[in-house]
Amino acid sequence: MTDNKESVDANACGQRVVVMRLQKFLARAGVASRRGSENLMTDGRVRVNGEVKTELGTKVDPRIDTVTVDGREVRLADGAVTIMLHKPAGYLTTMSDPYGRPTVADLVPRDRYPGLFPVGRLDYDTTGLLLFSTDGELGNGLLHPRKHVDKTYEALVDGRVSEDELQLLRDGVLLDDGITLPAEAQLVKASRSDSTVLITIHEGRKRQVRRMCGFIGHPVIDLHRRSFGPLDLGNLPEGAWRMLDQEEECALRKAAGIA
Ligand code: URA
Repeated sequence: MTDNKESVDANACGQRVVVMRLQKFLARAGVASRRGSENLMTDGRVRVNGEVKTELGTKVDPRIDTVTVDGREVRLADGAVTIMLHKPAGYLTTMSDPYGRPTVADLVPRDRYPGLFPVGRLDYDTTGLLLFSTDGELGNGLLHPRKHVDKTYEALVDGRVSEDELQLLRDGVLLDDGITLPAEAQLVKASRSDSTVLITIHEGRKRQVRRMCGFIGHPVIDLHRRSFGPLDLGNLPEGAWRMLDQEEECALRKAAGIA
């Protein structure tokens, strides 16, 4: 990279990755001229991800790094954003509710990223990984029925689930909107009164896991989504959100068939 140029590379999936010098980022965001931005940096007024940056060689990735000047966040106007939320129970998956009930919009930075929308939905009582994006192409790709993006759920169900019942889930069960595609189903633990089952489905029908478990005679008590396509919830605390990193975005675009 030469002194004044931003580096436009392609990552593993050929996606454009723009890394630029911090002073250029500040100038482009309209904070000050390039020279003025350098002065802000050397005066110790600029932080990247919470760390003061005085060195003029510092580079930032505008899609990932958080840049502040005197404590106020600075952003470029362009660039799609995708985040994951650990959805708690008791929130509707919608960006607004006419009855004023709690919605996932209360939990994500919608003012900071206008146009953020949930990619798919989790039921009011379902917890776990819910993706949001400002990128319509990505969202549509991930939800397209032909893409068969995997979703893995941990279901606490009523009663003791047998191997034969798990096999029904694997083979496909007849719901009122048709037979489900083969799923993966594995018993994690069981007592006489309930069982925990890990279920991976490759489609996204309404209340699908609840209906599948109901079909085999084991109504869901609690439902939690652990992963969505290539993304894992990991140890993100309930109610918290985070940006995806570049590798995750890249893998997600691949899963959506738009890499
Ligand atoms: N399947 C369900 O039954 N509910 C969800 O929230 C997600 C998948």
